[in-house]
Amino acid sequence: MEDRIVSAEATEAEMANEQNLRPNTLEDYIGQEAVKANLAVFMEAAKMRQEALDHVLLYGPPGLGKTTLAAIIAAEMGGELRTTSGPAIERAGDLAAILTALEPGDVLFIDEIHRLNRVVEEVLYPAMEDFCLDIVIGKGPTARSVRLDLPPFTLVGATTRAGMISSPLRDRFGVLSRLEYYHPKELALIVERSAKVFGVELSKEAGLEVARRSRGTPRIANRLLRRVRDFTQVSGAPSITLKGASDALEKLHVDPLGLDHIDDKLLKSMMERFNGGPVGLETIAATIGEESDTIEEVYEPYLLQIGFIQRTPRGRIATPLCYSHYGLEYKNG
Ligand code: ADE
Repeated sequence: MEDRIVSAEATEAEMANEQNLRPNTLEDYIGQEAVKANLAVFMEAAKMRQEALDHVLLYGPPGLGKTTLAAIIAAEMGGELRTTSGPAIERAGDLAAILTALEPGDVLFIDEIHRLNRVVEEVLYPAMEDFCLDIVIGKGPTARSVRLDLPPFTLVGATTRAGMISSPLRDRFGVLSRLEYYHPKELALIVERSAKVFGVELSKEAGLEVARRSRGTPRIANRLLRRVRDFTQVSGAPSITLKGASDALEKLHVDPLGLDHIDDKLLKSMMERFNGGPVGLETIAATIGEESDTIEEVYEPYLLQIGFIQRTPRGRIATPLCYSHYGLEYKNG
């Protein structure tokens, strides 16, 4: 997969950098109003009962703030945040080590939880349900099982692929929250907040322009803001204006809807070579030289969201909206 300025995946540098742009309280967290309102009630109730918050599963496309929410939950519940990920926990012992190091009220955040292996998942079930750990000591006929108590904790799981979570695991979460793409107005508030953290002046219109081209994703909005800030700084302009922002975004090849050259390649191939479809995922993948998984998980969600493509049983189709964006005549259907 190529590096894209509009990729929703975080780069290594961004993982570290996002830290100082993250809100610390639910109140400062912009957007996702339904999720926030519910979480606020569940957290308040758990605090009143002096219990750990029920386990929370956050799902939705990458870059929408799942890690940020986990950190906020830990802060609001007065516990520490312990972070790991599905692929990082290879053996049951790895998970046991993490679980036994928890303190009461801690939040264990497991990113990409759909990538946990079966053996590890089975250790997680009693830990989630009864706050205990069954450990097998020894081998063969003398092997026996020892039960270890764990402190009450909250597991926050995050996934971009809710459908890939096994039902026994999904059933053990008390709270399931789906994060949605953000509205440009919400993203504009996030961009304004980030500009303040950076100490750069940004006009309202410029903020909204960055927001509109950010594919509904705060991570992309903050990335575009950083690059726009670079262009502004080098040009010697004292603040980021609408023109400054638009010119910079033009140079970054991010179009007014946030589409880049890879989206162009994918959509134009569908329209020009396959007459708008239906065309199979594998065929598209082979034609543009990308992995089908990458197309499905990374490129398509936003194109579906803005109504440029549709998934049908017979394959993908490009919609009239897509044709009109590229100034092409809709011939299909
Ligand atoms: N930074 C990233 N996501 C955010 C959000 N939802 N609210 C405020 N700042 C953010």
